[in-house]
Amino acid sequence: MQDIDKLAASVLAEGRMEGLPDGHFIGGKYVRGSANAFLESFDPGTAAAFASFSAGTADDVDQAVNSARDAFFTVWRDTAPAERGRILQRASALILENLARLAVVESLDSGKPLQEAIGDVRGAARAFEYYAGACDKLQGDSFPLGSRHFGYSIHEPVGVTAHIIPWNYPISTAARGIAPALAAGCTVVAKPAETTPFTALMLAEILSQAGLPDGVCNVVTGRGAEAGAPLTRHPGVDHITFTGSVATGQRVMQAASVEVTRVLLELGGKSPVIVLDDCDRESALQGVMGAIFENAGQICSAGSRLVIERGIHGDFVAELAKRAESLKIGHGLRRPDFGPVNSALQLERISGFVERTREAGRQIATGGEVCTDPETGKGWFYQPTIIDAAQPDDEVVREEIFGPVLTVQVAEDADHALELANDCQYGLVAGIYTGSFDRAHRLARAIDAGQVFINEYFAGGIEVPFGGNRRSGFGREKGLEGLKSYCKTKSIAARIG
Ligand code: NAI
Ligand code: MG
Repeated sequence: MQDIDKLAASVLAEGRMEGLPDGHFIGGKYVRGSANAFLESFDPGTAAAFASFSAGTADDVDQAVNSARDAFFTVWRDTAPAERGRILQRASALILENLARLAVVESLDSGKPLQEAIGDVRGAARAFEYYAGACDKLQGDSFPLGSRHFGYSIHEPVGVTAHIIPWNYPISTAARGIAPALAAGCTVVAKPAETTPFTALMLAEILSQAGLPDGVCNVVTGRGAEAGAPLTRHPGVDHITFTGSVATGQRVMQAASVEVTRVLLELGGKSPVIVLDDCDRESALQGVMGAIFENAGQICSAGSRLVIERGIHGDFVAELAKRAESLKIGHGLRRPDFGPVNSALQLERISGFVERTREAGRQIATGGEVCTDPETGKGWFYQPTIIDAAQPDDEVVREEIFGPVLTVQVAEDADHALELANDCQYGLVAGIYTGSFDRAHRLARAIDAGQVFINEYFAGGIEVPFGGNRRSGFGREKGLEGLKSYCKTKSIAARIG
């Protein structure tokens, strides 16, 4: 830990970092983009640019996809599963060896508090460890066709997989897609977000050091329209995993339809946290705080709608507001409780939502203002915000804000809470706090969401399948089910004798 804080302190003092990746990562090495054009990445904690990276084009994407296709047919598809597992296992260990650098870069580039970035890097290592162990356990079935026939199935890798990665969890989202893709025998072209390009490149380099053959994992950086879009319509891509906004997800799906490319969409949410009056108050308070203020609320599965029973509503919200006001705000590298948001654009979006709800006469229990790092007066920060007594039709209740803004809805009882929770266009996750086993599981079954957390928001890990219903998207990541997203089943039936 000391190493990390030493590195963080020197990066903070200098406002930059030596030895960042330079170029796209294609065919096992860094290459200059064909247009020789660059973009800048910013430190959200100071709002200053700290490094540049290649602005990818359709030509770069083409080169990366060709490299991934070659590597698929000439080496990776036919690499023994146990050997794939060994490489992934080494990658996991190397991620941990590089923890300090990866975490500092992740915190600097995204703005998130260093301790959260450390957790994300550990999570990435865990994803590789988990899927390393699964490589040689992807068994097929045999089918009972009677004594004159023989039927069996095998799980084949889908081929070249594209991974379009958002800026809120750059290394975690990259790892949760790339690790199972590689485990299944697929090759990869990843396109990180334009505000957080570096850790995906570093991950590709680490995979290479772990023994991954050249061309199996490629990364092209750049803007969505210029580097992301060509990847989604490329005929050499067999599958697309996309995490981001609904609007962009719809464009990805349309582009994919031309070549009938498979898609997995993870499009965020507006997830409810139901707090019933028989809950353990302290666990619920801690859970709700983390659900909305971790990563400044920029989480697809953030618990952004508190749905609480009337009897405990007043006291609970007063205590939440007190805790929100006591969060220490600051630059991510100083390990604050609460860091900046990722970009000026995101800050503007968040502030727009809150201003509109203020104009509509809603009560802001706490927060509701743009602010800066109190130490430097710089950065893109938004106060931890709670909007009390929100109504089901309010824009702030219906739309994903993707920032530190919690709405509170009052429920008369558990059934009413369920009704409010399900009145939503999204269905990613949901939280339930109650002391009653029966009520917890009755609600868990009735809620429309891909994942439900009972008495601990974000409970679970890489073992647990994750993904959305309704406008949150479709397909599942994580767990063994996540591995199946990168496989196609082939059934073979034969006549004997
Ligand atoms: P976005 O969905 O536009 O960006 C996500 C990724 O898609 C980035 O890598 C981007 O470069 C890429 N992309 C953009 N346009 C593309 C295109 N036409 N084809 C292929 N790839 C493309 O999200 P943005 O604009 O950064 O954020 C807007 C909102 O989206 C946020 O306020 C939030 O509500 C939501 N969002 C949800 C995320 C989640 O985890 N589900 C993550 C990021 C954003
Ligand atoms: Mg950045």
